[in-house]
Amino acid sequence: MSSATLAPSPSSVFDTRTEALFAQLKAGGLWKHLRMLEGPMDATVKVRGFGECLCFCSNNYLGLANHPEVIEAGHKGLRDFGAGTASVRFICGTFTPHEEVEARIARYMGTEAAYTFVSCWTANEAVFPTLCEAGDIIISDELNHASIIDAVRLATVIKKGVLKSLYKNNRLEGEDSLEARLKEARASKDVTGQIWVVTDGVFSMEGSIANLPKMRKLCDQYGAMLVVDDSHGHGVMGDRGHGTHEYWGMFGRHEGTEARRHEGAGRVDIFTGTLGKALGGGAGGFIAASRKVIELIIQRGRPTLFSNALPVTVACSSSKAIEIIEREPGRVKKLRDNVAYARKQIKAAGFDVLESPTAICPIIVHDTAKAIAMSQRLLELGVFVIGFGYPVVPEGHARLRCQVSAAHEFSHIDALVAALKKL
Ligand SMILES: Cc1ncc(COP(=O)(O)O)c(C=O)c1O
Repeated sequence: MSSATLAPSPSSVFDTRTEALFAQLKAGGLWKHLRMLEGPMDATVKVRGFGECLCFCSNNYLGLANHPEVIEAGHKGLRDFGAGTASVRFICGTFTPHEEVEARIARYMGTEAAYTFVSCWTANEAVFPTLCEAGDIIISDELNHASIIDAVRLATVIKKGVLKSLYKNNRLEGEDSLEARLKEARASKDVTGQIWVVTDGVFSMEGSIANLPKMRKLCDQYGAMLVVDDSHGHGVMGDRGHGTHEYWGMFGRHEGTEARRHEGAGRVDIFTGTLGKALGGGAGGFIAASRKVIELIIQRGRPTLFSNALPVTVACSSSKAIEIIEREPGRVKKLRDNVAYARKQIKAAGFDVLESPTAICPIIVHDTAKAIAMSQRLLELGVFVIGFGYPVVPEGHARLRCQVSAAHEFSHIDALVAALKKL
C-alpha cells in the first residue's frame, strides 16, 4: 500500500476532531475559562486578574471552608496521621478519624450507619452497581445529577439485566411521571427484583426540591426503595440543616429501620452526599443508610474494594464542620435569611428567579454564549458568578447560577444585585 492510501493515524483522527470542537466552542463563545483563586474560599475571593471579588458561585453554603476550627482540625489530622492513607480501606486504609466522621455523618443524617468515599461521585457509583441485581429496575428523575445518571448506566452495564427508566423532573403523577414508571415496572415481566427510585434532594441547576413525602408514599405503594442524593441539601435544608428530609419533617425516622420498613414511616432508605459543599467544603462523599446497606457496600462495592480511602485530613476537617453545624444552628438560619433576602432583591431588580427555599438561585437567560458573556461582565464588576449552558444544562436553558452562603452579609447581596442591574 502506498503512503498516500494509508488511513490517518488514530492520533490524527483525535487531533482533527478535537481541534474542530475547540474551534467551534471558541467561535460560539462557549469556551470555559478556569479562574485562578489566589487565596481561600470565602464570601469574597481573590481571582487572578480581577482582584478581590464577591463570591456567589461556590457551594460553601455555611461559610465553613475557611473556618479556623475546620482548618485546625485538618492540620491536626495531618500532624497525627500523616499525609496519606496509602491504602484501600479494607487492606490497611481505615483510620480512627474515618470511624469518627462516619459515626457523626450517620447521626447527622439520622441513619444507622455511613461510609465515606473520596467524592460523592464515587459514592453514587458505589450505590447502584453494588446493590442492584438482574431483574431490578432503577427509576430516575430526568434532571438528576450527572453522577447519578452515570451510576445508573454503570449498574446496567456491570450487572446485565438491571433495567432503568426515567420520569419527568419532579412529576409524580400523570403522563411520564414517577407513578407511571412504577406502574409500568410492576406490570413488566422483566422486573422480577427490587424497584429503586432515585432523586436529587435539591436539584443542583434548578434549586428546586424533590417532594420526598409523596415519593415515599409512592415507593411504599409499589414496594420501592428510595435513594436521595442530598449534596445541595445537607447543611442547607431544614431548621438544623440536616437536609431535605428534615425540611419535609422526615428526619429522625430511621431508628429501628428494619422494624419500621412496612409501617409507611416517612423515611429515606439511602442517602448519598458530599463533604465538598456545606460540610466543610474540602472533598469527599458518603453513603448514609441502614447497617445492612453499608455492610454490602463494604463487602462488595468496587469503589470500596479498589480505591483509596478519604484522606484523613479531610475526615478530620469534615468531622469538625459537622460538629460546628450542630453546635451553631444559627448558621443555617443566617443562610435561610440570606437566601430569602437574595431572592427578594434579585426579583425586585427585574430578574426571573425560581422560588424555593434552597441556596441556589438560577437566573434563566436561555442562551449559553449570553450566560458566559454575562458572567465575564460580572467578574469585571467584581462579582464572581458562573454562567451554565449546554452540556451542563439542556440546550436553550442556560443560566447564571447565584449561590448564597451564610458567609454573606446583606451588603454583599446588595452589591450582587447592583452588578446584575448593570448587565
Ligand atoms: C447532586 C450532586 N451529587 C453529586 C455531586 C458530586 O459531588 P462530589 O464533588 O463530592 O463528587 C454533586 C456535585 O456537584 C452534586 O451536585
